[in-house]
Amino acid sequence: MPQIQVTGIVASPRKQMNTDTLVQKILDGCQKSGAAVSKIYLNDLVIQPCRACKSQDGSGCLYQDGMEQIYELFEKADGLILGTPVYYNSVSSQMKLMIDRSYCLAKPVITPSGKRIYESAVKKMKKGMVVSVGGSGSNPECVLPVFELWSPEVNLSIVDSILVTHAQLGKAPKESAELLLEAFSKGEKFARLLQAENQERHI
Ligand SMILES: Cc1cc2nc3c(=O)[nH]c(=O)nc-3n(C[C@H](O)[C@H](O)[C@H](O)COP(=O)(O)O)c2cc1C
Repeated sequence: MPQIQVTGIVASPRKQMNTDTLVQKILDGCQKSGAAVSKIYLNDLVIQPCRACKSQDGSGCLYQDGMEQIYELFEKADGLILGTPVYYNSVSSQMKLMIDRSYCLAKPVITPSGKRIYESAVKKMKKGMVVSVGGSGSNPECVLPVFELWSPEVNLSIVDSILVTHAQLGKAPKESAELLLEAFSKGEKFARLLQAENQERHI
């Protein structure tokens, strides 16, 4: 049976700060449970903003840039850990660029009753976890509607999250030993869930 692959996608421009540290702890937990892990910093990639060019005619994106690596990942990974800081009550622009550039992955399909629905062009079914870190605010869950709307487009189902702010914790999330432990154990659990599904598929 193939080893499960979990990738962290970090959308904070600040490496080793709060979002990155929490994503890394989750990945460490996944690795402890036997997953192969990797991490991508969106800020290191050049990703053009979506131009709504050919939109959803199935011909893909007109740009060839950092998103190619991400499109490949959408077809390869078993699990994604999506980490974003809260910027003005939403995801960071690095994360929004990736999300918008997934628009071409939603294929319009006409049902037998003539209704137009959208299906993901991505074949690989994946599970995901969201990490969001805010500062002085108290609503790190504000990013969830963005991920919930986007995730079906890339055949991703979000099953867990860590949503925190500095203000709620009274300290920087990366300094909270309790939170880091929670992130590690959520990672272990997440990888076990993926493994159980993988096993079922190979029976
Ligand atoms: C452009 C910008 C906008 C921000 N907007 C918010 C916000 O709306 N709510 C909030 O709680 N924190 C906000 N913050 C604070 C960050 O979410 C906080 O510093 C967080 O720790 C950043 O994640 P990082 O440490 O992983 O980089 C903002 C920070 C920046 C730079």
